[in-house]
Parts: sequence; structure tokens; C-alpha cells
Amino acid sequence: MSATAPAWDPAQYLRHAGHRARPFTDLLARVPDLPGEPPRVADLGCGPGNVTTLLAGRWPTARITGYDNSAQMLERARQHASPTPGGGRLDFAHADVRTWTPDEPYGLIISNATLQWVPGHVELFAGWIAALAPGGTLAFQVPGNFDAPSHRLMRELAHSPRWRSRLADTLRHDDAVLTPGAYLAHLTAAGCTADVWETTYVHLLTGEDPVLDWVKGTGLRPVLTALDDDPEARDAFVGEYRAALRAAYPAGPQGTPFPFRRVFAVARTSG
Ligand SMILES: C[S@@+](CC[C@H](N)C(=O)[O-])C[C@H]1O[C@@H](n2cnc3c(N)ncnc32)[C@H](O)[C@@H]1O
Repeated sequence: MSATAPAWDPAQYLRHAGHRARPFTDLLARVPDLPGEPPRVADLGCGPGNVTTLLAGRWPTARITGYDNSAQMLERARQHASPTPGGGRLDFAHADVRTWTPDEPYGLIISNATLQWVPGHVELFAGWIAALAPGGTLAFQVPGNFDAPSHRLMRELAHSPRWRSRLADTLRHDDAVLTPGAYLAHLTAAGCTADVWETTYVHLLTGEDPVLDWVKGTGLRPVLTALDDDPEARDAFVGEYRAALRAAYPAGPQGTPFPFRRVFAVARTSG
């Protein structure tokens, strides 16, 4: 199944920046001290760079590079590029995660909410782990919500008779990410000490149609991209999908509860 490479919209993505940053903070809390003085850090699929800046807060002397293959995201991320107060450096560069090759030993290779867009990403782990300095860490977080109503309803609509011919091959299925146990097996087989877990956040979203607003920044991007040249069709799809989401995610007294499962992994090499 091939997913359409989506066009990203940093402003739409950042509308839920607080909720989206929370798993990154939770991932970071489990990353141990890094080797290297200063440590070298790569953030793969850095997006608009706001969470990359949190790495500079944790490792003020580190040389940190955020990599992404979206020109729109990189343009936004580069607003954060600067020397860091601890004498380190934060910068951003274009790279495709599928072909990125580390050219020096890294203390940390981290990736947040990106590997679900990279089919076969576990095959890349061995190369990344080999590029870690002794005692270095590979850490990532991926959504585990491909069976949630938000994504299931999107897929069902895309496969319905009205949309099938244009959208049937557009979306990822629930095999976009592995189970926590499968990640653990891959990482330990690569010789790492691994810590893998899952968390279901219940984000309380506010505003009208907040789940639609959320997925417009992420999961719905392949559909929006595929229908970009036909605004009438795009609006019709979004209208049908909005109605389905309203039924699946009713608003409560304080907002709309949006359960969101995520899978985390922190793998450390011996050092
Ligand atoms: C959901 S955003 C996550 C951004 C950021 N890591 C965060 O946590 O806010 C996914 C990002 O992955 C990037 N991406 C997807 N596939 C990629 C690839 N093959 N190579 C590089 N970046 C990729 C997208 O451009 C996008 O910026």
C-alpha cells in the first residue's frame, strides 16, 4: 500500500502544538545522559522544529540538527536555528529519513511522530544504531491509532464508491507502525538495551470540529494533497468526513475527548 507523500502545512500542524509536544517530552524523560562532549544529536522528521528546541534545553552544549524532507516544514523550523545559550548549536537541514546516512558518531538519534510515514522503517534501525557512539541512544515515538475512529472513518470513506477511484491508494493502514513488542524484538536483536511502552492520551480538544482540525494537520494530509487540484471534491470529502467525526467524537462539558494511543521506544547501545 503506497501512501501519497503529503504536502505539509506548518501553521495547521502547530494549531495543536501543546498536545503534540507532550509525547516528545515524555519520550525525552526516558532518554539517558548522552556520550560525547559536546553530544551530537539528530532529530529525524523534525517538522516545524518547535520540539527540536527542547533538545537544546536538555543538552545545552549539544550540536543538534533537525532533518526533514518537507520544504514548508524546514522553512518554519529554520526560524529556530541559532547558537544555544550553553554554547551548542541548533540547525536544520533537508534530508529524507529513508536515505539519511549518519556521517559521524551520534549521541542521540531521535524521531517524533515521523516513522509512521516511512514504510519499512525498522529496516533502517541497524544503520542508525551502528552510527551511535558507544552508550548512544536511538529514541522514537509513533502514533498507534490507525484503528481509531478518526483513521478508520477516513479509510472507510476513501474506499467508499464515491471516492474509491481517486483515494483508495492514498492512506496508510494499521500496519504503518509495529506493535510495542515487535519494536522491542527488533531493537534488542540489534544489540541494544530497549525500553518500549505505549500510552493512550485522552486529549481534551476545544473549538468546533476539533478532531477534524487535528487530522487536517497530520493524518488527513494525503487526502487533502490528492484532492488539492479539485477544491469542490476536497470540500465534499471533508464535509462527509466531518459529519462522521461529529458522531464518533461528541463534545463533552469541557471539550471533545480525543483518545490517542502512542508507542515509544528508547534503545541504548552498550558503552
Ligand atoms: C507529524 S510531523 C512530526 C514533526 C515533529 N517531529 C514533531 O514531533 O512535531 C511528521 C514530519 O515527518 C516528516 N517526514 C515524513 N516522511 C519523511 C521522510 N521520508 N524524510 C524526512 N522527513 C519526513 C514530514 O515532513 C513532517 O515534518
